[in-house]
Amino acid sequence: MNLITHNPVLLNEALEYLNIRNNLVYVDATFGLGGYTKEILKKNNCTVIAVDRDPDVQKFSVILKKNYKNKFKFILGKFGDLKKLLEIESVDKITGGIVADLGMSSLHLENGKRGFSIKNNGPLDMRMSKKGISAEYVINSFEEDELSKIFWNYGEEHKSRKIAKTIVIERKKNKISTTHDLANLIKKVKLQKKPYRIHPATKIFQALRIFINNELEEIKCLIDHSINIMAPGARLVLISFHSLEDRLIKNTFKKLCEGEKNVNRHLPSLKPLMKPKFKKIGKPFYIPTENEILKNPRSRSAKLRVIERVSI
Ligand SMILES: C[S@@+](CC[C@H](N)C(=O)[O-])C[C@H]1O[C@@H](n2cnc3c(N)ncnc32)[C@H](O)[C@@H]1O
Repeated sequence: MNLITHNPVLLNEALEYLNIRNNLVYVDATFGLGGYTKEILKKNNCTVIAVDRDPDVQKFSVILKKNYKNKFKFILGKFGDLKKLLEIESVDKITGGIVADLGMSSLHLENGKRGFSIKNNGPLDMRMSKKGISAEYVINSFEEDELSKIFWNYGEEHKSRKIAKTIVIERKKNKISTTHDLANLIKKVKLQKKPYRIHPATKIFQALRIFINNELEEIKCLIDHSINIMAPGARLVLISFHSLEDRLIKNTFKKLCEGEKNVNRHLPSLKPLMKPKFKKIGKPFYIPTENEILKNPRSRSAKLRVIERVSI
């Protein structure tokens, strides 16, 4: 029996800002345990195409397929390939909206075997698609300099050099194979004497996960594909969980909503200025209420941003 459940983060806000309407097509780009998809389907008579790269979540789509038949489709794949995945299904326009909840699912965090968890020991894996190079491979074979760059670029870890150096020394004695091997080693390097609120290895785990799953590139492609397939009135709702993701979304949305600017405001524009094709909806961003954080502490760093296509 599968006892793992997942509390969808900012669910009410995501549903509200997706603006779910009858007879339109929506994409849930991060299906997970189906929390968003289920509620979108319940809310109105619309169609949901759900995407997830993790083969372990496919089983959660079976019951929805049974209940909603041709109103629901699950596609196993990366949202960075969204346009191609939809083309295979003969879909070239999304009329309703696209939502992506970018964090990790409970399936990743609670099942130690997936290798994402500092708390639950398991093999150092971290591959969402269960394909490609694992965190164990990176930690035990990358050069010190490459490791330190990953830790700094994707984790903004101030002790990235010292941690990379220690990993290279320690792996000569013993292979670093489990999440606890790595977490304990980082704890020793960071030597935090005071009790900590977040584990000292958190940033390193985040950095490795982003690198292994090419997460920032995936988000760039998701936005790029989405803006090309959204029909006027369709919305893009993205929920991020750390500053690197949020910065990327914020800056890209800003550019999309600004349109073309006159290069020199003192000179007349030589060509007619392009009006922006997207507009921001509501506040610059939404965060969980204190009540939601209390019920689901994992939601504490979530930020939701939304844009709408206004013209072709
Ligand atoms: C936070 S969970 C989503 C939870 C979901 N909203 C729910 O309510 O159950 C994020 C999901 O996105 C998936 N994912 C992450 N990156 C992905 C990518 N590039 N392409 C497709 N799926 C991805 C993960 O496998 C995970 O299942």
